[in-house]
Amino acid sequence: MASSCSSVNSKKKHTANAVVTDKNTLVLHEATCGDLVFDWSYQFLTREAVTEFAAARLPADFAERKAELLNGRYMNISEGREVSHVLSRSRNSVLRDTGSAGGALGGADNSKFARTVLKLRSGNWLGATGKPITDVVNIGVGGSDLGPLMTSFALREFASDIQQHELHTHFVSSMDGGQLYAVLPICDPETTLFIIASKSFGTSDTFANVETVKCWVQEHFSALSPEVASEWQKAWLEHHIIGVSANVQKMTDYGIPPAHQLVFEESVGGRFSMWSSIGLAIATTCGVQVFQRLLAGAAEMDAHFDTAPVTENIPMLMALLGVYNREERGINNIAILPYDGRFRHLPSYLQQLDMESNGKQYTATGEAICAPTAPIVWGGFGPNGQHAFFQHLHQGYDQFTADFVCVLHRAAPKFSASVAFALDQQQKLSVANCLAHRRLMAFGEQSETPTEHYPGKHPTSLFALKELTPESFGAMIAAYEHKIFVQGLIWSLNSFDQPGVEQGKKVAITALKRMHGESDEQFDASTDAIIRMI
Ligand code: F6P
Repeated sequence: MASSCSSVNSKKKHTANAVVTDKNTLVLHEATCGDLVFDWSYQFLTREAVTEFAAARLPADFAERKAELLNGRYMNISEGREVSHVLSRSRNSVLRDTGSAGGALGGADNSKFARTVLKLRSGNWLGATGKPITDVVNIGVGGSDLGPLMTSFALREFASDIQQHELHTHFVSSMDGGQLYAVLPICDPETTLFIIASKSFGTSDTFANVETVKCWVQEHFSALSPEVASEWQKAWLEHHIIGVSANVQKMTDYGIPPAHQLVFEESVGGRFSMWSSIGLAIATTCGVQVFQRLLAGAAEMDAHFDTAPVTENIPMLMALLGVYNREERGINNIAILPYDGRFRHLPSYLQQLDMESNGKQYTATGEAICAPTAPIVWGGFGPNGQHAFFQHLHQGYDQFTADFVCVLHRAAPKFSASVAFALDQQQKLSVANCLAHRRLMAFGEQSETPTEHYPGKHPTSLFALKELTPESFGAMIAAYEHKIFVQGLIWSLNSFDQPGVEQGKKVAITALKRMHGESDEQFDASTDAIIRMI
């Protein structure tokens, strides 16, 4: 049972002087960082109220904690290590052979990471039977999947290095093997390379997928020449696997040659690791240059977060408005509603980034927090959501806040002028829908007829991009990271551990043993009945 409440949240609630959005008197509230525009006009705090709220809710040592984060010195107390994802990416560690975060910095294009990508993208990485690799499969889950998947999908059109060689990237994450049903039939074991992406190099989801892949490979290789058949596993490990992990020993024990191991620091949290070697699939899909541009965009947001005044500071605004909506307006969820298909995977990524970081009810020192912390993060591709859940948002009772994302223009260089024009018309249609629906959620429509009444008064924010670039994408993702860091400070919790998922892993092992008849542990009438069915 929670002990006495932590003082951090039992302090007097700060009732900021909220404004009710009125279309005639609305004040424009925008903050910018590079090409990224953050519009918070539809939120319920004025600039003055944000300043007051910051003074009331930010910890007194905020500046010191922020400096620690930016310099890789902030402590993840429960795991006894520093938090270094910002320092690591600001140093381009992954693109320079650093060994450790502080090691000698080599040139950006000669790191092991860059050389690996260039070898794959040029068709010079040959499989065990001498054929160039044509397909790369990233096997990972959580932070070892969501960032690479989201970013590869968003930025793949920006790949600029002219590659004569056709290289396809696939993502496999789920323990049920679901993606393998689709991926294996379209791949050839002789030309497919697997990235085993796992910070711990021990996650059961990931290695369940690897085991099935090994069966698939063994069948194929064993049917080849006798010498390959006898040495198939060694050949596979030496030509068709790259390990990405913080655990060198486990990669080596698994049989992955050191030359095909990419390492990142233990101090880079899994859900903050897409900027590290875990981003290999991003660079394999989009090229090293795009990956560098992604890091540069994040670095621009780091500097903005460090220096911009609070009412111009995008992560600070996101954090303070989020805490206000959560604590003072009692809104327990936030919808992520992108209106550009390239952001399709953003909601899932932010679910882990936010809910696994701040979905806690105890402080970093173990005191109970008796007030709400992280919201439930959900959402989906906005235009399709209009045909799925927008009815509930417009006329249901539930409170919500939302982050909209829209891109004003999308280049279509691979199409003729007439098709490009038609596609641009569609981009404009999508933006128009984004603006119209968020406006209806803010102001509503008053009517005596219930079915025509839209209550409105839902606070939302909008990220507007003139055009999507790798830099603006990196800046936006970094903004969310810093938002979550600031909210964690406000709630005095540790945003960088995830003990809540560890228990789930343990009980799953027990259930699996029972299913395999290796344990006769009884669970409960319901669970036992299902297990008996299996
Ligand atoms: O969900 C728990 C978790 O540990 C995440 O924090 C992490 O991103 C994911 O599992 C995968 O872990 P690993 O990269 O060690 O396989």
